[in-house]
Amino acid sequence: MQGGGFYNRNSGLQAANLGSALPLLAAAAADIAVDAATIGIADYGASQGRNSMVPMAAAIDALRPRIGPDRPIVVSHIDLPSNDFASLFTLLDEDQSSYLAGRAEVYPVAIGRSHYGQVLPRGSVDLGWSSNALHWMSRNPCAVPDHGWGVFSADAAVRDAVDTQLDTDWANFLIARSHEMRPGGRLICQFMGRGEESHGFEWMAGAFWQSWVDVANAGLVTHAELARISAPSAGRSVKQIEAPFRDGRVAGLKLVDVAVVPTPDPYWEAYLQNGDAAQLGQMWANMMRAANGPSFAAALDAGRDHSLVLDAVTACLAARIAADPQQNRSYNVIVSIAATK
Ligand SMILES: C[S@@+](CC[C@H](N)C(=O)[O-])C[C@H]1O[C@@H](n2cnc3c(N)ncnc32)[C@H](O)[C@@H]1O
Repeated sequence: MQGGGFYNRNSGLQAANLGSALPLLAAAAADIAVDAATIGIADYGASQGRNSMVPMAAAIDALRPRIGPDRPIVVSHIDLPSNDFASLFTLLDEDQSSYLAGRAEVYPVAIGRSHYGQVLPRGSVDLGWSSNALHWMSRNPCAVPDHGWGVFSADAAVRDAVDTQLDTDWANFLIARSHEMRPGGRLICQFMGRGEESHGFEWMAGAFWQSWVDVANAGLVTHAELARISAPSAGRSVKQIEAPFRDGRVAGLKLVDVAVVPTPDPYWEAYLQNGDAAQLGQMWANMMRAANGPSFAAALDAGRDHSLVLDAVTACLAARIAADPQQNRSYNVIVSIAATK
């Protein structure tokens, strides 16, 4: 994610996405076993924290009446080592949306390690949460010369490699959680899903990629750099989510519920209200830059001015959307998992 708090300021779509999983999180917090002396909540793929405030507050508020005022709650925010954790902790200390505001005995900590391995002690997590993060793969499985996303490549071998990586990562995530979760705990995840007829997100992914092609055609980057670009993200289908549970790779976790639902599009809703196509374009362009700019720019030649290139791509994308406003059609997956052993 783009640092300096940029993702925090441009993640309204992700905030809308996670809304559909909040009722499951509150219900899980009201239902999990609460025997431990310290209650552990884990937030996997926290980024800069803006979108963690509401879910963590909801979880704490559902737990507090069950555990009394004095029992400590540790909230572990997990993200990659490169994450902008400074923005997260500044928000926690200074912002009125902070889940610490008015809530005692809550202790946030940060872990800068990949959630595809175990990052917390065995049996220490009572309630797990992950929003808008698990469609990010641990790596790009292969080169994708014809698109910014392998899942949209015309080459079936590339799409197969993406599906294999998605499967491995999901299984590794679950195995790691099966060690970390305390029996009786619950894990709620929301991330990009995949539709039955189409993957979803084709319009926006295509518009972003075409904006990079425009910038290459204008000479700001080379076509060789363009061919190296590949964002390690893709949605999963229900079948793909069920697979590690079905084939026995994951022990000690039970899949309670999984659903793929259409995503909300708050930018389109705003456009329907105000008819401002330029604003629609700018909101999408900023969000795409915040979420995907760094992984695209990482493929550029050493010494390239990333800001200059990303400014140009963002301007191209904003203009492209303003000229042809559309509603985004993509999918969210919502998963509820119980720790059983
Ligand atoms: C789109 S942001 C989501 C942030 C926030 N949870 C939300 O709902 O808006 C995805 C986050 O997942 C993180 N992420 C990606 N791969 C990860 C991994 N292997 N381990 C931990 N975090 C990861 C990214 O660094 C990024 O901060």
